[in-house]
Amino acid sequence: MSRIKILDKSLASKIAAGEVVERPESVLKELLENSIDAGATSISVTVAEGGKRLIRVVDNGSGIAREDAGLAFFRHATSKISTEEDLEKIMTMGFRGEALASISAVSRVTIRTRRPGEVEGTSVIVEGGGEPATTGDGCPEGTSVEVKDLFYNTPARLKFLRGAETEYGRILETFKKIALVNPDKRFRIVHGSGKALDAAPGTSRQRIADLFGSDIGKKLIEIETPDLKGLTGTHELSYPTAKYLNTYVNGRWVRDRAINRAILEGYGQLLAGGRYPFAVIDLRVAPDDVDVNIHPAKSEVRFRNPNYIFDLVRYAVRGALSRTTAPPQAAYPKAPAGPNHLQPYMALNEPASAYGVCGRQEEKAGLLFKEEDIIDVKNPEFLGLVIVGQLWGEFIVAHTPGGGGEAYLIDQHGAAERCAFEKLKKMYASGTVPSQALLLPERFETTPEEKEAVLGASQYLSAFGFEIMPFGHSTGSGGETFLIRTAPCLLSGRASAGLIKDLAQELSSFGGSSRVEERIDGALMRIACHSVIRGPRPLAKEEAAALLTDMARIDFSGHCPHGRPVVKRIPRGEIEAIFGR
Ligand SMILES: Nc1ncnc2c1ncn2[C@@H]1O[C@H](COP(=O)(O)OP(=O)(O)O)[C@@H](O)[C@H]1O
Ligand SMILES: [Mg+2]
Repeated sequence: MSRIKILDKSLASKIAAGEVVERPESVLKELLENSIDAGATSISVTVAEGGKRLIRVVDNGSGIAREDAGLAFFRHATSKISTEEDLEKIMTMGFRGEALASISAVSRVTIRTRRPGEVEGTSVIVEGGGEPATTGDGCPEGTSVEVKDLFYNTPARLKFLRGAETEYGRILETFKKIALVNPDKRFRIVHGSGKALDAAPGTSRQRIADLFGSDIGKKLIEIETPDLKGLTGTHELSYPTAKYLNTYVNGRWVRDRAINRAILEGYGQLLAGGRYPFAVIDLRVAPDDVDVNIHPAKSEVRFRNPNYIFDLVRYAVRGALSRTTAPPQAAYPKAPAGPNHLQPYMALNEPASAYGVCGRQEEKAGLLFKEEDIIDVKNPEFLGLVIVGQLWGEFIVAHTPGGGGEAYLIDQHGAAERCAFEKLKKMYASGTVPSQALLLPERFETTPEEKEAVLGASQYLSAFGFEIMPFGHSTGSGGETFLIRTAPCLLSGRASAGLIKDLAQELSSFGGSSRVEERIDGALMRIACHSVIRGPRPLAKEEAAALLTDMARIDFSGHCPHGRPVVKRIPRGEIEAIFGR
C-alpha cells in the first residue's frame, strides 16, 4: 500500500492556517490590515477572553460585494493583486489572500458587510473551513468580521494559548502598533467589561499620547525626511527592552534588527548601554526596493539596499536629536584630563558642538599629541621659553630664559595651522586619520564638474577621514547631492562642504600639473587651515604654553605649503641697537 497520501483539504488548510494564525493577536493583525486596506477611517475592536472566545473588528471601509463575499474565504483569493508584476509594487497591507481562509479554517467566522450605497448587505458564515453560507443582511455600511472560538477544532493549538490577560496583552500590543502608524483613523478597543481605549484621529504625537500616556507624548521629537517620517523619544525615555521601537515600512509594521540597531546608533551615547529608546519610524521605500513577501505574517521584509536604509534611519534619528536642546554633558565622555599645558590649543573656548565626539581620548583631543610623543622633541627651544604675553590677540611674545639670548614673536594662527598640518601629515602617512561620525550629516550639492571632482578624489578624501555618500541627484541639472558622514576629528565638527569641494578641486588629476605628493600636502594644509580658529583671539598663558609645546615637536625647518614664516627670533643685541645701546 502506498505510504504517501495527499492530505485532505481540511487538514491541509489547518496546517497552512498555522503559518498565518499563531494566536489571537495574529487574527487581530490580519483583520485590522484588511480594514485599513478597505480605506476605513474608523475601526472598532471587541475582544472577549483574550480573543479566544471572540475578536470582532468593525470598520466603515469599502465593504465587500455580495458576489465576492463567499470568495473572500478561499485561499489565494484577494482583490489586491492579480499579476506577478503587482507583487513588485505592493502598497496594501494584504496581498496573499490567505488571512480569511486561514482564520476561518480554525474558528467560526461571520462577516457582515455592505458597500456604501448598496441597499442590502451580505452576511457570510464559515465554520472550521467549511462551505461559506451567504445570505442577505441589513447591516450598516462597512464590514464587521467576527471570529469566535479560535482553535476550537485544533486542540493542540488551543493548548498553547496562555491565559486571557496574557493573550489580551499581546492583542493590545498589536493594536497599538497598527494604531500608531494610522493616527488619521479612529481606533477603539475594548476587552470584556473593561474600559475602552479610544483614540480619536489626530497627529502622531497625539496618537502616541492616547496610547502610551501624555508623559511620553511630551518627550518626543518629530522626524521628517523625504524617506522617513516619525517621532523619536528624547533620551529621557529609555527602556530595558526594544519593545517601544515601533518600526514600519510604508505603513506596514515590521520587525527588523538592522533598523533597530540603526535607531540605537542614532542615539549614540545619549542612551546608556543596554537601554532602548521610544520611537515610531515609518520608512517610505519604493515598493520595488523592498520585498514584503518573505514571511506569511508579512512582519519581516528584505531591502534591496539594506546599508542605505540603515544609514537613512541612523542619520534621521541623529539629526532629529541634534535639533533639540543640547544633550546632557554627562552623557558624553569627559574631555581628557591632563596637565594644563597639554590642553589642546585649538579646541579651547569652542562653543559646544552639535557634532559627535570621537571615542578614543587622543582622537578627541584632535591636535593633542599622545603622552609618549613628548619624548619626541624636535625643537626643545620652544619648551624653555618664558612667555611674556600677546600682541593684538595674534602674536605670542616670549624670550629665552636668562638675561641674554633672543626674543620670540610667534604668529599664533600660523603656528597652530602648521602644527595641525604636521600632525595630520604624520597621521596620513601612518594611514590613520582619526575621524568622527557627524551627528548631523552635512549635505551639499554639486555641479556636474564638482561631482566628477568629488568622485575622482573620493579615495583621498576617505584617507583624510571624510566619508562621503552620494545622495541622489541634485536639484540643479546633472549634479549630485552628497552627504558627509564622517569628518576628521581635527575639524571638531566645523562645516566641511566648502572644504571638500576645494579639496576635490585640488586633488582632481586635471586640476594642475603638480605632483601627487604636493597636491596631497596642499590638501592636508587646507584641512589644517580649516581646523584652526581664525582672527585675533586672546590666549591664556596656558594656551600659549600648549601651543609652544606642540611646536616643540614639529620640525619647522621643513617645507611649509603656505611658505610663510611662523616664528621670528630677535637677538637681544638687535633690540638694543634700536635704542642705540
Ligand atoms: N474589512 C474588509 N473590508 C473590505 N474588504 C475586505 C475586508 N476584509 C477582507 N476583504 C476582502 O477579502 C479579501 C481577502 O482577504 P484576506 O484573506 O485578508 O486576503 P488579502 O488581504 O491578502 O487580500 C480581500 O482581498 C478583500 O477584498
Ligand atoms: Mg488581508
